[in-house]
Amino acid sequence: MNNRIIIFDSTLRDGEQTPGAKLNAREKLKIARQLARLGVDVIEAGFPISSPGDFRAVQQISRQIKGSAIAALARTVKEDIDCAWNSIKDAEKPRIHVFLAASDIHMEKKLRKDPQTCLEEAVWAVKYAKSFTEDVEYSLEDATRAREDYIFKVVEAVIDAGATVVNIPDTVGYATPEEFGGLIKRIITKVPNSEKAIFSVHCHNDLGLAVVNSLFAVQNGARQVECNVNGIGERAGNAALEEIVLSTVIRKDQFPYKTGINLKEIYRTSRMVSKLTGIPIPVNKAIIGTNAFAHSSGIHQDGVLKDKETYEIINAELIGSQAAQMILTARSGRHAVRHQLESMGYQLNDEEFENFYHRFIELADKKKEVYREDLEALLIDISFADPTYELEYLQTVSGTKTIPSAVVRLRKDKEILEEISSGSGPIDAAYKAIDKITNIATRLENYNLRAVTRGLDALGEVSIKITHEDKNIIGRGVSTDIVEASVKAYLDSLNKLINMMAHINNNPNTKQLNKQ
Ligand code: KIV
Ligand code: ZN
Repeated sequence: MNNRIIIFDSTLRDGEQTPGAKLNAREKLKIARQLARLGVDVIEAGFPISSPGDFRAVQQISRQIKGSAIAALARTVKEDIDCAWNSIKDAEKPRIHVFLAASDIHMEKKLRKDPQTCLEEAVWAVKYAKSFTEDVEYSLEDATRAREDYIFKVVEAVIDAGATVVNIPDTVGYATPEEFGGLIKRIITKVPNSEKAIFSVHCHNDLGLAVVNSLFAVQNGARQVECNVNGIGERAGNAALEEIVLSTVIRKDQFPYKTGINLKEIYRTSRMVSKLTGIPIPVNKAIIGTNAFAHSSGIHQDGVLKDKETYEIINAELIGSQAAQMILTARSGRHAVRHQLESMGYQLNDEEFENFYHRFIELADKKKEVYREDLEALLIDISFADPTYELEYLQTVSGTKTIPSAVVRLRKDKEILEEISSGSGPIDAAYKAIDKITNIATRLENYNLRAVTRGLDALGEVSIKITHEDKNIIGRGVSTDIVEASVKAYLDSLNKLINMMAHINNNPNTKQLNKQ
């Protein structure tokens, strides 16, 4: 038997039925374009009779999207089928998808029709749809709660009427895997003309079994799977496209089937659907949740660092996502923390690392989860080495009728460096003199002065923020002389910056630290 599985995506129809997930025509078109890029075989673009807006959306998708077949849903009534056809007639590959209830409860309670009438309607609808297009799909709504003999009768009749695809939906998510697989197998083996159609399944997730039911159906002969990106859909949703596809990739020993899906587009599609529908992706959602590739336990982190396969069965890059991210916590060991620093380009010697790790644990105790940005802030905050520049001498001149100027003398190792500069005030002049000595390109973003103690001889504390490239560095200086405190704060931030850049491994910024 052919092992190619047709992926029928219903994100824009059943997925859009998720409460609160209404999409406008522009959003539907955007998603449809991405679904085509993803490589789905069929895009169920909507239920055109449901609203003029949906009709227009399906029409636009049909006119603009190439590659995938475009399906429109219709009940077994003339207006629905006419409307569905009008919306998709310009598509490269149009499909009309008609459906009618097959279970007694739906026929009696919802439709108030007897099974024979429903059967006749189904046959009529397929023939009518067939007068427009060759590609007609018929769905037996609520099939998993229908009588099996009735299912066989309807399936045979709609295939005779011309249905090319027969869909067996688990409309209320009631089926279990063996039971559903068995049903598909019996339909295919017992219905005499079954070889003339492709069998499809459409599983809802009320018991959390939608994906496994779909996979069992495929193992039993179904060759089309209806599914939705992120598993969105009515109530608990539909089978998740990404889970089905990845199951066939990662467990091909169990599910040796091919799809036309471009795996690298999965992540992007998933994020787009979530953003446009406004339905968030649960963090622990299989394949595409933000935690799906994150390791938090110390033991797991250690294992993954030694060999990814210890705790990772899927490579994030396979689905177009970024490499796995480690969320560091107080339970993360030294190995994980050092690895994260190295992946960010920082090389610390053992003593520096111990100092860093100690500060990391203090932070992790307070903050629970520590991200890359936190590590960077910690690195900036810790002075790993002796300061590169120390203040030796400072003299400033300022007054009402004088141009403010400064003489600054700094020690760098054994060298004494001195510069003179003028400025708009004594602090500006001193900073400019320092810039001449250090030759480092920075920008002063923030300057704050506060009295630390009381009285006229109070200590003044200056805290400043400077930026260099994408780095923000805070510097502090204390003195009874506010100009001196300001100079110390500036030197503190420059020394931190120099230390930090020295720990960045092979970072081109290191070379650009000095002004050209
Ligand atoms: O769940 C269902 O039965 C449906 C049909 C229209 C296929 O969505
Ligand atoms: Zn459905």
